[in-house]
Parts: sequence; C-alpha cells; structure tokens
Amino acid sequence: MSRSAPLDIFFKQSRKECIFLNTLLIYHSEHHGNTEKVAQVIASALNAKLVSSRDIDFDDVSTYDLVGIGSGVYYGHFHQDLFRFIDRLPSQIRRKAFVFSTTGSKSYGERANSSAKLKLKDKGFDVVGEFTCLGFDTALSTEGINRGRPSAEDLNAAETFARSLMGK
Ligand SMILES: Cc1cc2nc3c(=O)[nH]c(=O)nc-3n(C[C@H](O)[C@H](O)[C@H](O)COP(=O)(O)O)c2cc1C
Repeated sequence: MSRSAPLDIFFKQSRKECIFLNTLLIYHSEHHGNTEKVAQVIASALNAKLVSSRDIDFDDVSTYDLVGIGSGVYYGHFHQDLFRFIDRLPSQIRRKAFVFSTTGSKSYGERANSSAKLKLKDKGFDVVGEFTCLGFDTALSTEGINRGRPSAEDLNAAETFARSLMGK
C-alpha cells in the first residue's frame, strides 16, 4: 500500500485538518517479541515508519510530526536504550508523542508508561496518548504467565488506540 493511501482515506472521512502527517514508531522488544507485535499493529494503523531501538537514526526524528515510543517493561521501566535515546534528543517544540508497552502486570505497564511520558514531556513533547497490554512473561518462571498475550483482542485494542490518535 502506498504511504499516502490511508491519509487520503482519512481526509475523505473527516473535514478536520489531519495533524499527523508523518509518524515514527521506535520500539524495544527483546523478551518474546510481544511489544514488536503491538508496534506492528500501531505502525500499520498510522502508516508509520517502524524502527527498532537498535536502529535509531537521530536525524530521522526531526522529520516526523508524531513519535511513538514502545517497550516491554523491564524491571519496572521502558528499556534503558529508549531512555538514553530520549535523553540525547534535543529539546522539542510542537512535536507530539505517545507511549505504549507490554508487561507482565498491568499496574507495572501503567507505571512504566507514566515514567516514559514524564521523560518525553521534560523534553518538550506534547504527549497525546498511551497504551499498555499484557505480554507473555517468563521472567520469573519457565512456565510463565500471560500465555497467548498479546491476544487478538489486545491487538484490536492497540489498533483502536492508534486510530484514536488520528483525531487528536
Ligand atoms: C528481564 C525482565 C524484566 C521484567 N520486568 C518486569 C517488571 O518489572 N514488571 C512487569 O510487569 N513485567 C516485567 N517483565 C515482563 C515483560 O514486561 C513482558 O514479558 C513484556 O511483554 C516483554 O516484552 P517483549 O517480549 O517485547 O520484550 C520483565 C521481563 C524480563 C525479561
């Protein structure tokens, strides 16, 4: 699908000005690929460029209107590569951001989102949304918890979240 097709559809469906012309999604997913699954769904819904935290190009960020940062929750937080990345960014003006995570427990996901949001706000980003869902987690036992997550329902919720950003 061409990069402009979904935007064309959006313009036809809404008389509102479309704010998010260009979206960059940066994610870290090292445990079971849980966050990558969510990142792919959000990127597809927003027609965004999807980049792993290992392949970030700093110059790239300045060319995007909206930046999404996503991570598995590791020891209560987004992966440190993402925090280092945010730290090294110049102060932002009029650039929007959102965060998303997959997590062993929902409360950890919410807390990790909050600290990532704070970091982005400190950099000057206007944070316009957040999403978290459970992910298969074998950190504490080989049998693991949340088997099968993110589920189809989780991925639908991620898509709904992504679409809700278009109206903001
Ligand atoms: C080293 C490690 C630390 C983790 N720490 C937490 C944690 O503090 N709280 C939590 O709820 N889940 C924790 N988890 C579970 C992950 O957040 C969860 O499995 C997530 O979906 C992993 O995403 P990924 O597959 O994209 O890496 C941890 C997992 C690993 C491997």
